[in-house]
Amino acid sequence: MTALLEVRDLQVAYGHIEAVQGISFDVNAGEIRTLVGANGAGKSTTLLALSGLVKPQAGSIRFEGEELTALKTHQIVERGLVQVAEGRAILTTLTVRENLELGAYRRKDRASIASDLERVLALFPRLKERLAGLAGNLSGGEQQMLAIGRALLARPRLLLLDEPSMGLAPIIVQDIFRTLREINVDGLTIFLVEQNVKQALKIAQHGYVLESGKIVLDGSGPALLNDPKVLAAYMGG
Ligand SMILES: Nc1ncnc2c1ncn2[C@@H]1O[C@H](COP(=O)(O)OP(=O)(O)OP(=O)(O)O)[C@@H](O)[C@H]1O
Ligand SMILES: [Mg+2]
Repeated sequence: MTALLEVRDLQVAYGHIEAVQGISFDVNAGEIRTLVGANGAGKSTTLLALSGLVKPQAGSIRFEGEELTALKTHQIVERGLVQVAEGRAILTTLTVRENLELGAYRRKDRASIASDLERVLALFPRLKERLAGLAGNLSGGEQQMLAIGRALLARPRLLLLDEPSMGLAPIIVQDIFRTLREINVDGLTIFLVEQNVKQALKIAQHGYVLESGKIVLDGSGPALLNDPKVLAAYMGG
């Protein structure tokens, strides 16, 4: 079986800073895979390269066998790679409903947009209560839910998430990660980038550990969770 996403020998630099130094990984259809690592490891840079927002120096990114590195960001989005950016990037002066509708701006099928909106509001009931309110008045956790909901309205084939746990209380992180599992069980493939190594490995079938631009470990979620090197470096013992 070929993977949905196949990344090979990816290198990305910002001037002389070699942020990503020849990494290779796969994401299979139906999985949650995670790329975990500390501050500055190169996680966001990897996601930006997948979405065409930074140009790699070398390497290939294939989605269903098609090379993405030559495509523009909007073409990559059309293929179904939809990214929830670090820091959420919601539009604070628009309502929750308007933010969600922005996710569907490429779509014309009104009926299926409406049913996808219902689905998103069922996944995130807090958003339903606040639909008419300004997005800027949401809590951090609710804003993250909104960012994920908006991405879902774009009908992704592969959902890319950059540190959805960032700045959130543990109980909110668990809530969001539980919902990600639910979305995955419904059939969506997810590639999750995280600094919250423990929570990410708990929901992922497979994980990669990124250190200073290089993948240093890879294995199943449970195997990495119990790996002494992972425990020592990322879980305080
Ligand atoms: N636009 C940029 N210009 C120059 N250097 C950058 C730029 N963006 C990132 N870097 C550098 O590239 C390296 C990788 O950064 P990146 O943002 O990919 O890390 P990260 O794993 O996402 O970190 P964090 O967990 O803090 O978000 C770091 O050394 C960072 O300082
Ligand atoms: Mg980052």
